[in-house]
Amino acid sequence: MKRRPLIAGNWKMHLDSVKARQLAQDLIPAAAARAGNCDVMIAPSPTLLPVVSEEVKDSVIILGAQNVCWATQGAFTGETSPAMLLELGCRMAIIGHSERRHIFAEDDRLINKRLSGALEHGLIPILCLGETLESRQQDQTFKVLEGQLRSALINISIKNPAKLIIAYEPVWAIGTGQTATTEQAQEVHVFLRQLIGDIFDKTIASGIRILYGGSVKPETMAALMSREDIDGVLVGGAALDAESFSKIINYS
Ligand code: PGA
Repeated sequence: MKRRPLIAGNWKMHLDSVKARQLAQDLIPAAAARAGNCDVMIAPSPTLLPVVSEEVKDSVIILGAQNVCWATQGAFTGETSPAMLLELGCRMAIIGHSERRHIFAEDDRLINKRLSGALEHGLIPILCLGETLESRQQDQTFKVLEGQLRSALINISIKNPAKLIIAYEPVWAIGTGQTATTEQAQEVHVFLRQLIGDIFDKTIASGIRILYGGSVKPETMAALMSREDIDGVLVGGAALDAESFSKIINYS
């Protein structure tokens, strides 16, 4: 099955409203030029969502959030509800990013709740998974990823593969300049796709988009995207610069 690639930018805790507005504006032409071939998403921090939303509302750029709570509203200090994100025009939400797991101690149970809340409210989750360097060196990569995927998907049912996106982001490759080789990424993506088939069914597995993330740069794009099971990328550092992210969007 041909899956439509997704090029996603995670802006993390960077930029201010002036810079964010400018970056969003600068990305519109590149995204428009590729509209026939791929989707482009950007995920600014919550305070920047209103200005970026205003900038991209008439463009093909999809607005995303970096995290999401499960509840519509209530006593959840520091959290953002799916309804609040939808009101700002968000269609996707990153969940379970390695920085959430490791710096803020978000565990599989919490990630499962976030995922289920996002789906219930009609936000498309980008579920991030990834092994640490230690796990890879101890040959635990597949075991770790299987644990993360299975627990994130407990009691989740998916009828349409477009409603969920997976991002494989090896922790050792995030922000380190060390991209996984295309063989390493492809091998994991095949494994995750099989697992999705196991958890859901073959149709979901062949239609679901699995992104790679971790030090993606314009120079590494073409090789990554040439692999059968790599359906796009989740980009941090290189998504903060209009020129480099436009090059990533324009990969050939
Ligand atoms: P990086 O970040 O591209 O800077 O490695 C990727 C991510 O954290 O999603």
